[in-house]
Amino acid sequence: MSFSINTFFFSLIAFLALRAVAADCNPLNTTTTCSPDAALSTEHTWLFNETLDSTLWDMATGELNYTDKGAEFAIRSENASTLLQSNFYIFFGVMEVHATMAVGRGIISSVILQSDDLDEIDWEWLGYNTSFVQSDFFGKGNTTTSNRGGTHLVSDADTVFHNYTIYWDKDRIEWWIDSDLRRTVNYSEPLTVYGKNYPQTPCRVKISNWPVGIASESLGNIEWGGGLVNWDDVPFIMTVQKLRVKDFHTGKEYKYTGTTGSYESIDVISGNSTAKKEIEKKPEETLAEKWDDLGEGAHIGVYVGAAAAAAIAIAGFGWWCARQRKAGRLQRALNDSAAGQSGAELTQMEKPEWRQSQWGQQSYQRVP
Ligand SMILES: *[C@@H]1O[C@H](CO)[C@@H](O)[C@H](O)[C@H]1NC(C)=O
Ligand SMILES: *[C@@H]1O[C@H](CO)[C@@H](O)[C@H](O)[C@H]1NC(C)=O
Ligand SMILES: *[C@@H]1O[C@H](CO)[C@@H](O)[C@H](O)[C@H]1NC(C)=O
Ligand SMILES: *[C@@H]1O[C@H](CO)[C@@H](O)[C@H](O)[C@H]1NC(C)=O
Ligand SMILES: *[C@@H]1O[C@H](CO)[C@@H](O)[C@H](O)[C@H]1NC(C)=O
Ligand SMILES: *[C@@H]1O[C@H](CO)[C@@H](O)[C@H](O)[C@H]1NC(C)=O
Ligand SMILES: *[C@@H]1O[C@H](CO)[C@@H](O)[C@H](O)[C@H]1NC(C)=O
Ligand SMILES: *[C@@H]1O[C@H](CO)[C@@H](O)[C@H](O)[C@H]1NC(C)=O
Ligand SMILES: *[C@@H]1O[C@H](CO)[C@@H](O)[C@H](O)[C@H]1NC(C)=O
Repeated sequence: MSFSINTFFFSLIAFLALRAVAADCNPLNTTTTCSPDAALSTEHTWLFNETLDSTLWDMATGELNYTDKGAEFAIRSENASTLLQSNFYIFFGVMEVHATMAVGRGIISSVILQSDDLDEIDWEWLGYNTSFVQSDFFGKGNTTTSNRGGTHLVSDADTVFHNYTIYWDKDRIEWWIDSDLRRTVNYSEPLTVYGKNYPQTPCRVKISNWPVGIASESLGNIEWGGGLVNWDDVPFIMTVQKLRVKDFHTGKEYKYTGTTGSYESIDVISGNSTAKKEIEKKPEETLAEKWDDLGEGAHIGVYVGAAAAAAIAIAGFGWWCARQRKAGRLQRALNDSAAGQSGAELTQMEKPEWRQSQWGQQSYQRVP
């Protein structure tokens, strides 16, 4: 009984915590104080052949279909989109994705890094042509020019899983396709407004298949995507096979100090990141494995307890009652053991303060 009450309160607290941080928060807005970004703090590769850990990933729109080739990001009906975003952030690092693009006029497949103040580094596949991919970046959401995009030839991007890698540190951004360096943007050059619009704040990963060819988009955006979507052609499917993400900093969280949006203004808060703990945690044990983990001493203890219970039963409490006590003691022994081993219950409580999407199509501009 007490267990289920605890579970109830835990759920309630988790629910309220998630609700409390649901609003978008731009750290450069002087009238608001945003909570820190949860760090990835490690390197990890996700194979998109099984359900992603929902502690680490947030399915913002749509659903994934897991196949033996990878996870399908599908658009199956008018105006639908599929967006997956990480709950963790990297503060400089590497993002390597192996994917095939969705084919269709007005359909954009994208894998991007985006920060809370709208720094952004992109891979974008335009559904009308499977022979190229675009690289792009934005600083602090500045979309006043659209000359930052790059176009890179790639063969059969709809059927071949190429390796698209972004390397990002404080000095440069590199876009790699398979083993070739295709583009470099330095921190200080005219395109970055000499560093001012260089992406330099903690970013989360966003993977999306979305329609830009719809009437509510700007003419420039519709043109960029190759025209209006032909909805008779659904489904439009992008497939992600694998994703490697590496964070260049180690710490628990990243916090903006001040409103410059410069990398010097980011505090790396030390500690173990929730994402890293989640990635490194052992898979859920079965009851039999937990029993084995208790060891001989505990087994004997439980047997003794059971024997005592049996004795009580003999003394007149009845067989059924004794069995309940035995079960209770076994459960307690298992709980004590689990708590001693890894603080499994605590880990669950420390749900990070994940933030919601800043995803906005406003940052997409026509690339001439
Ligand atoms: C700053 O945040 C406040 C409160 O959330 C909001 O009303 C306002 O529009 C924001 N200003 C800018 C420039 O984003
Ligand atoms: C996913 O792929 C990995 C590596 O090939 C494999 O070990 C794992 O069993 C696969 N998972 C599923 C659910 O097929
Ligand atoms: C998953 O794939 C099946 C078979 O192709 C399809 O019927 C279903 O709608 C798909 N679901 C999603 C969420 O894409
Ligand atoms: C696709 O783009 C490539 C590179 O810009 C171009 O050479 C090719 O003609 C385009 N194909 C089609 C069908 O438009
Ligand atoms: C936005 O970008 C334009 C063009 O690159 C630049 O002239 C301008 O200074 C930038 N604005 C800010 C606030 O950084
Ligand atoms: C993908 O490309 C990057 C950059 O060339 C490279 O570091 C990485 O090892 C490649 N991954 C695989 C699986 O080959
Ligand atoms: C970037 O910097 C490197 C040297 O670090 C230089 O060789 C290269 O020309 C620069 N690229 C641009 C576009 O400024
Ligand atoms: C799709 O979006 C457009 C606006 O871009 C709207 O006119 C249309 O009614 C929408 N269709 C559906 C089925 O919601
Ligand atoms: C981080 O984890 C390590 C190993 O799990 C532990 O020894 C250390 O005390 C933890 N540090 C903090 C700040 O919690």
